Amino acid sequence: MSSFISVLQGETMTPPPIWLMRQAGRYLPEYREVRAKAGGFLDLCYRPELAAEVTLQPIRRFDFDAAIIFSDILVVPHALGQRLWFEEGEGPRLDPIGTAGDLSPYDGEKLLSHLEPVFEAVAQTRAELDDEKALIGFCGAPWTVASYMIAGRGTPDLAPIRAVAKEAPERLQTVIDLLVEASSDYLCRKVEAGVDCLQIFESWAGVLEGADFDRWSLEPVGRIIERVRRQHPHIPIIVFPRKSGEGYLKVVERLPVQAVSLDQTVDLEWAKEVLQSNVALQGNIDPGLLIEGGDGLQRAVDTLLETLGNGPLIVNLGHGIDKTTPIEHVHQLVDRVRGR
Ligand code: CP3
Repeated sequence: MSSFISVLQGETMTPPPIWLMRQAGRYLPEYREVRAKAGGFLDLCYRPELAAEVTLQPIRRFDFDAAIIFSDILVVPHALGQRLWFEEGEGPRLDPIGTAGDLSPYDGEKLLSHLEPVFEAVAQTRAELDDEKALIGFCGAPWTVASYMIAGRGTPDLAPIRAVAKEAPERLQTVIDLLVEASSDYLCRKVEAGVDCLQIFESWAGVLEGADFDRWSLEPVGRIIERVRRQHPHIPIIVFPRKSGEGYLKVVERLPVQAVSLDQTVDLEWAKEVLQSNVALQGNIDPGLLIEGGDGLQRAVDTLLETLGNGPLIVNLGHGIDKTTPIEHVHQLVDRVRGR
């Protein structure tokens, strides 16, 4: 079994397993080469042999303990019929949904047939991946995905979805409910295709507070987990409620997760005291420190290992790796974690 899965079952591994969010990406020349060959980003997502290839690239180069299947959280709205494209150098664009009425009623078969190339990529990757390496499948949490569906793009403060949550909560609820259904079916199929673990990305948890966090994040994520567990009772699940602060505690106390992924603002002593007795922790090196490398990075790794290394820990970043990150610094990180 992989050390990554052992940690998710509550074991302490020394050295701890390591992988990085967005580990397949533009900081790697071999990724840029395949990406150029594919044409567009979505072509890369929907061509199984290319998606499998870029998923494996960071494992070959850095010997990470887990691979994350190459795709994007926005293929779900795409599969639900929303137009999606990626503006070069800018990021995702969608035709914004005005009302829930813009979307057709849920058709699970249609969704899953659109996403068939992703399942094919999972099967191909699992077949090529070493037994000691875990394969992670993922989706975005409904609030985070809906924020892009409503604004049609990334927004710094999520003003568009927050306005809908305030002025027409029942309309937002319809979109969230649709995403709960779609995401659960999507994750179940990924498990059936061969992933060993699931991660749910709530990248925009940080703008939700109190009862809003409960309603728009905790509750829908909980329903996805419940649905997935009905089909796959033992699949380990990691939730990443980025920048949710106290929200981390709610996730750990109220949802049956194996791990939470910590962003770089989470205090490590607090995480050790309050979270690690219940779940495994993943994180939380600042991606900025990985760009800089050197002593600052060494110190951050040492502090992470000293504080959380005596319990179940997976080393990762606090958020995705930046495209300007020097490859040498990734080697430095891996070596430091593995005591080389
Ligand atoms: O981690 C991995 O290696 C797996 C692949 C992965 C991608 N996106 C590939 C990607 C994963 C897990 C994601 C998740 C994702 N996508 C999130 C949640 C995590 C987070 O970062 O907060 C979000 C919010 C998205 C939506 C999205 N996709 C944005 C905002 C962007 C543009 C940002 C950017 O860096 O350009 C993307 C594009 C994207 N998704 C790229 C990659 C490698 C870069 C596009 C390219 O190669 O041209």
